[in-house]
Amino acid sequence: MDRSATIYLETFGCQMNVLDSQLVESQLRGLGYRFIDDWRAADVVLYNTCSVRDHAEHKVYSRIGEVGQHKRRNEDTVLGVVGCMAEREGAAMLARYPQIDLLCGPGELDKLPLLIDNMLRTDLARRTRRRRENVALQGNTHRRSGTLAAAEDRLEMVDLARSFSPDEHHGSAYVRITRGCNKFCSYCVVPQTRGAEVHRPPDTIVDECRQLVEAGVVEITLLGQTVNHYHFDDTAAVSVDGVRQPQVGGSAIRSPNLPGTSFAELLARIHDEVPDLQRLRFVTSFPRDFGDDILETIRTRPRICRYLHLPVQSASNRILRLMNRGYTVEQYEDLLVRIRRTLPDAEIASDLICGFPSETEEDHAATRDLLRRSGFKNCFIFKYSPRPGTSAHEKMEDDVPEAVKRRRNNELLEIQNGVSRAIHERYVGRTVPVFVESVSRRAEKSRNTADPSVTVGWESAQSTTQMCGRTGGDLIVMFDGEPGQIGSIVDVQIEQAAPLALFGQLAGAPVVP
Ligand code: 5AD
Ligand code: SF4
Repeated sequence: MDRSATIYLETFGCQMNVLDSQLVESQLRGLGYRFIDDWRAADVVLYNTCSVRDHAEHKVYSRIGEVGQHKRRNEDTVLGVVGCMAEREGAAMLARYPQIDLLCGPGELDKLPLLIDNMLRTDLARRTRRRRENVALQGNTHRRSGTLAAAEDRLEMVDLARSFSPDEHHGSAYVRITRGCNKFCSYCVVPQTRGAEVHRPPDTIVDECRQLVEAGVVEITLLGQTVNHYHFDDTAAVSVDGVRQPQVGGSAIRSPNLPGTSFAELLARIHDEVPDLQRLRFVTSFPRDFGDDILETIRTRPRICRYLHLPVQSASNRILRLMNRGYTVEQYEDLLVRIRRTLPDAEIASDLICGFPSETEEDHAATRDLLRRSGFKNCFIFKYSPRPGTSAHEKMEDDVPEAVKRRRNNELLEIQNGVSRAIHERYVGRTVPVFVESVSRRAEKSRNTADPSVTVGWESAQSTTQMCGRTGGDLIVMFDGEPGQIGSIVDVQIEQAAPLALFGQLAGAPVVP
């Protein structure tokens, strides 16, 4: 077996995929593989893919096409499609794209090293014949509880085997608390590709957070498709060798009185039992299950960030019903009122879909009005994209013309830009703690191109670089700093606001005339 082989891994889509890629990478590095940035030079090219919208899939198809051309000249390259596209398309993908050597769904990542190893050990002549054996997908078995429990035990090992090396985290790390989704929103492919909802045991999660902080992590983001739906019934937990196993989630609306650990209790445990953790965040919340117990836990624990991502999707009750979201716009707005009453300094972000089947101008006007009055710090706005296998695709005609979707999308973007700018302006003159994430893209570009025409914000002295970070409320902040600050929290005095970001100076830095 060739463990000195090089791998190129590219990730598409959500934070859950980013975490999966990190875990896959640390697993493969542990086996001796090396990761490189140039796909043309790699022995193995892996795409960790997203199926949420057609657009995301198109990008991957174009990459697969490029690798196909490359392989005609350099047949030794192994191409693997990992993640939601592999799961959604299934083995049919191999028939359509002969350049693909292996497929691995998001629920089978523990098998990826074996698949790669198989392919690298198989000589070219036999590779084509063996492609069919190189498929690890959950298919349609993953909602059966027996199969699911077994699959989860294996998959849990991928999270448990993560690397705690400080170099890999730059001060910030994701921790999965829930996999899969049971909501079945009518437009969404995730319940099929990621399978049924499963919750990880709270002790395992707290331990993982503690180890990350001991390795130098400053900020942890808890991940779940419906993160606030987390619930672990300790009384019913199965334990193997004294270690609790992941638990299949129910679909009932959560009550704080259920036995076991609720999401609010999990947040409190992490905050209280990992006192050196400086920032605790979580995404994505589902509006229907957001109890006051969660808000109260955040209010009383200063290191839990005042930031909530609460996708509303539409402000028309008729469309929300067709989307199978399980709440009305009145209930959503009641949640906003509850949040602002308990956490007046919280920032809220949302997602919207425009042009859902049958959406009228009146429905769209309701969404525009909601956007104007909700005060979201930002909102991700998507044009409806019909996904095969979802109930909206099966039962509803995609009847809003593309030009209308585009116009509605632009109208919503314009309103949100104004709202975001107004929210950002409230910060001018204030000093805020900023977690420093990276050198800003513009500074990076100017450094790489050494092009003096690419000017960089306030970059004045040669010794400073424009840095990029986030406030506790998830607002993006640009300021003059230095790369050594990446992974730490610094105080920045805000001087200017734009719709997408705040600009400022390190507090205490000398004022440049
Ligand atoms: N079309 C458009 N947007 C979608 N989303 C999910 N599925 C679709 C789809 N079929 C959006 C939702 C969700 C976000 C992650 O992606 O707004 O919150
Ligand atoms: Fe998709 Fe709805 Fe689940 Fe979110 S809650 S992942 S939109 S099915």
